[in-house]
Amino acid sequence: MPSVLITGANRGIGLELTRQYTADGWKVIACSRTKLDGVIPLDIKDPLQIQQLATQLQNEPIDILINNAGICNRPNEELDLFDHAEWMDTFHTNTVGPYMLAKALAEKNHLKIIANISSVYGSIHLNNRGDHCIYRVSKAALNAVTKCLALDFAPKKIAVVSIHPGSVKTDMNPGGKISPSESAQGIREVLSSLTLKDSGSFMNYQREILPW
Ligand SMILES: NC(=O)c1ccc[n+]([C@@H]2O[C@H](COP(=O)([O-])OP(=O)(O)OC[C@H]3O[C@@H](n4cnc5c(N)ncnc54)[C@H](OP(=O)(O)O)[C@@H]3O)[C@@H](O)[C@H]2O)c1
Repeated sequence: MPSVLITGANRGIGLELTRQYTADGWKVIACSRTKLDGVIPLDIKDPLQIQQLATQLQNEPIDILINNAGICNRPNEELDLFDHAEWMDTFHTNTVGPYMLAKALAEKNHLKIIANISSVYGSIHLNNRGDHCIYRVSKAALNAVTKCLALDFAPKKIAVVSIHPGSVKTDMNPGGKISPSESAQGIREVLSSLTLKDSGSFMNYQREILPW
């Protein structure tokens, strides 16, 4: 039975990915910082919890890690000039946490794919609007994590990609254009056709390559 570990599995895109993979017969290791039955507690900002999870799952085959958990800061105009805490919180959640989890699991498990749920907002090339600076920077840095890990994990034959899930109607983006179901379906299709040749790339849920 193929298996997938999903962070931020309690709502939004993560919940929908969990539903779809489960319905498809996969073993789903659903992780959430919110305590729920059948879900493994994981605050992606907590290095101790990450280490404990990796040890708990040691030698358990995990085909896919989906680093989905993320936060989006308030728009620039709502931020204080020196909102250091918001910078650190977003960077820790969207960039450092996914990196730590990927490293911890790749050390102890037999991963095949690491999918970092990034955002088109993380594309420096496509940024023609400014705004949401903290979020953009955290996702651009997550894309850099993808590239680094793709190179670092090439000898382990783990494919590492960044995926933009689309503009998805969730708590994070109430005005989103597509449903979590459509996004999750697209992400699953992308992941099902990935090969090592794709490692180190940035694409959307429709498999279109995005510029960094
Ligand atoms: N929606 C969009 O249009 C869109 C577009 C581009 C990229 N994305 C990305 O897609 C991913 C999912 O977003 P979404 O739209 O589904 O957002 P969402 O509905 O706000 O859900 C975010 C999820 O991340 C979890 N999370 C946040 N901080 C966490 C932490 N420290 N530890 C563990 N879990 C944490 C939340 O858990 P709690 O319930 O505990 O807060 C929740 O499960 C994010 O990485 C986001 O940046 C979304």
